[in-house]
Amino acid sequence: MNDQTKIEEAGFVPASRIAAIGVSKILQIGARASARKKEGLPVIILGAGEPDFDTPDNVKAAAKAAIDKGDTKYTALDGTPELKKAISEKFRRENGVDYAIDEVTVATGAKQILFNAFMATVNPGDEVIIPTPYWTSYSDIVEICGGVPVLIPCDAEAGFRLKAEQLEKAITPKTRWVLFNSPSNPSGAAYSEADYRPLLDVLLRHPHVWLMVDDMYEHIVYDGFKFVTPVAIEPRLKSRALTINGVSKAYAMTGWRIGYAGGPKALIKAMAVIQSQATSCPSSVSQAASVEALNGPQDFLKDRQASFKHRRDLVVSALNAIPGLACRTPEGAFYTFSGCAGMIGKTTPKGKRIEADSDFTDYLLEDANVAVVPGSAFGLSPYFRISYATSEAELTEALKRIAEACARLS
Ligand SMILES: Cc1ncc(COP(=O)(O)O)c(C=O)c1O
Repeated sequence: MNDQTKIEEAGFVPASRIAAIGVSKILQIGARASARKKEGLPVIILGAGEPDFDTPDNVKAAAKAAIDKGDTKYTALDGTPELKKAISEKFRRENGVDYAIDEVTVATGAKQILFNAFMATVNPGDEVIIPTPYWTSYSDIVEICGGVPVLIPCDAEAGFRLKAEQLEKAITPKTRWVLFNSPSNPSGAAYSEADYRPLLDVLLRHPHVWLMVDDMYEHIVYDGFKFVTPVAIEPRLKSRALTINGVSKAYAMTGWRIGYAGGPKALIKAMAVIQSQATSCPSSVSQAASVEALNGPQDFLKDRQASFKHRRDLVVSALNAIPGLACRTPEGAFYTFSGCAGMIGKTTPKGKRIEADSDFTDYLLEDANVAVVPGSAFGLSPYFRISYATSEAELTEALKRIAEACARLS
């Protein structure tokens, strides 16, 4: 039972646009894990979607200065001129893409950028192609906006990446968008220029399809992987592409709620119409902080990357040492998405048969007090996601418990 059913029981009928959408599985697992923790059980939660670092001091200082200066009022609808300038410069400096100030928009997190974009463009029945596994919000937002998510499975053998033939086959006259997320939440897989090229060629042949890219984890890549954004590879797609990014993950600013995007002027204007009736503008103080995040020193990113890489290696090798699990080494982000096909069909010490990845993750929570998220929450089974944005000590203990719990299955 999710919260929505509880609401209905109390005599409240929600609008049909959210009827099919339950409370996120990730939040449900988080709630169960927290409840067990409150009972005094030693639960380790490997579900966090945010870095365990602090927001840099120079960014905090910029926010404090903004408050003292009186930057505490409504700002321009979709971003202050200072922040839009910093974003435009960031796109040029880091991505080699020219977005003019009026081709940039700022919102309350990249999540609101996605919302604004789909609300502004998707008509009932319009299709949005989403490679799977996908960040859960994508399909829910598309559905709330009346669209149809077209989910294309991309398994570990495919490197969790969409192939050109799959994209070509999925495109119909109703396709409005295709959405790429590299590096990906939940798989950590990333598209190199060579991976993107054939996909962009397909899009060149289908001018009615728009390209949305979520580059949120751009700064968290390993082993010299060269991050690239599609519009930099194929500028001919720029007039029908939305390049989304934000400060949440790179600068450990999830609570500040600032996301941004570059796109064609007409789309940016349409997105502002939605925002004008939703939030009026992003937080003034957070925007001032984000100017400093983008314009200030960037050298700390390397250290954080190294720390995440160390933890990635620890998790991947521990998972691959467990018979029945198979974990691909991710190129970026702070998640592993490990296959657990070898656990399906096994029986727990309490006699319960593991039929699906969600049974396996339930077992890990109940038997080993480790909370991870099943692949089914991201549209691809049988897998499970670990977020390694937590201390090395907790990761080591959690992986020891997972190994022991797996050994207890028969
Ligand atoms: C792939 C991806 N895109 C976007 C977001 C949203 O970020 P924001 O905090 O800017 O809303 C997340 C957050 O988990 C994410 O994983």
